[in-house]
Amino acid sequence: MKKNLSNIKKGKYYLDKNECIGIPTETVYGLAANAYSDEATSKIFKLKKRPKNNPLIVHYANLNDLKKDCELNKNFYKLYKQFCPGPITFVLKLKNDSKISKNVTNKKKTLAVRFPKHKITLGLLKKINYPLAAPSANISTKISAVSLGDVKEEFGNKLKFILNGGRSKIGLESTIISLVAKPEILRLGGMQISVLCKALGLKLKYNILKKTLHPGQGKLHYSPDIPIRLNANNPRLGEAFILIKKRKKNDKNFFYLTKNKNLKEAGKNLYKILRTIKKRKYKLISVEKIPNKNLGITINDRLKRASKK
Ligand code: TXA
Ligand code: MG
Repeated sequence: MKKNLSNIKKGKYYLDKNECIGIPTETVYGLAANAYSDEATSKIFKLKKRPKNNPLIVHYANLNDLKKDCELNKNFYKLYKQFCPGPITFVLKLKNDSKISKNVTNKKKTLAVRFPKHKITLGLLKKINYPLAAPSANISTKISAVSLGDVKEEFGNKLKFILNGGRSKIGLESTIISLVAKPEILRLGGMQISVLCKALGLKLKYNILKKTLHPGQGKLHYSPDIPIRLNANNPRLGEAFILIKKRKKNDKNFFYLTKNKNLKEAGKNLYKILRTIKKRKYKLISVEKIPNKNLGITINDRLKRASKK
């Protein structure tokens, strides 16, 4: 615990100086900076090589701080009460007098916000007097980071500090829901849509093909830069084969997301395994069929995007 406290202090030290740091969350690691500072947030875009028109998610520790920046509504409170902190991001109306940097919003009148569920990052947020803008801690369009080592691989010594919080428990980004008008799912993620529908008493659908592309929701994303063949029964020559159910006969090119179709476990391992396959220099990937239910829907969404050229 002592070590965590001194690391949190160190994180605050860099953030207060308008630097970016790596932070752990339950979904994926973030590349964080003071959301009120133009100088600090501009560094995020540079480090990530992120297009400036792709807005950032802002992370809060409590409701009172959020109230300074956003207009909250009934649907927000319904979901907040049940699911926060947790893997859900809300797009809300930005208040006119909010201090959020215009780099964060791409000058839009809306803001994406979330309450991360990670002790260390919540500890950090409570110590600073500004919220944290934090996209996923990876180079733009590449595989997201789920551990301190992954963040190091992405940014090397360009990043001054990474707060260590162990392996991300969920391993998939947050689900994004817009509550500006009629609730609308903008990105599938670690929170299942069926659960959100129940809480809101609404039917929400997400259609990857019909979706108007929001910035950062481009088809190529989460990409290991290796072609991926989906719904494969067996691997072809030279392919890394990703599986979710234990087979009798195994090979060194077999990579298990889970051995018993546990989709939560599969989600947690997805980015880690894509990273390992890339490090082993495979040129092709195939993936066993993953059931399109629960978190399987999110996993399939990520694989489809990662497989686009
Ligand atoms: O789990 C997560 O959400 C992680 C952790 C670090 O919190 N963050 C994350 O951030 O995935 P990022 O930047 O990789 O993805 C944020 C997505 C982008 O696709 C962006 O276009 C969208 O959120 N976004 C941000 N602000 C928005 C807004 N005002 N309206 C619509 N989409 C928005
Ligand atoms: Mg991302």
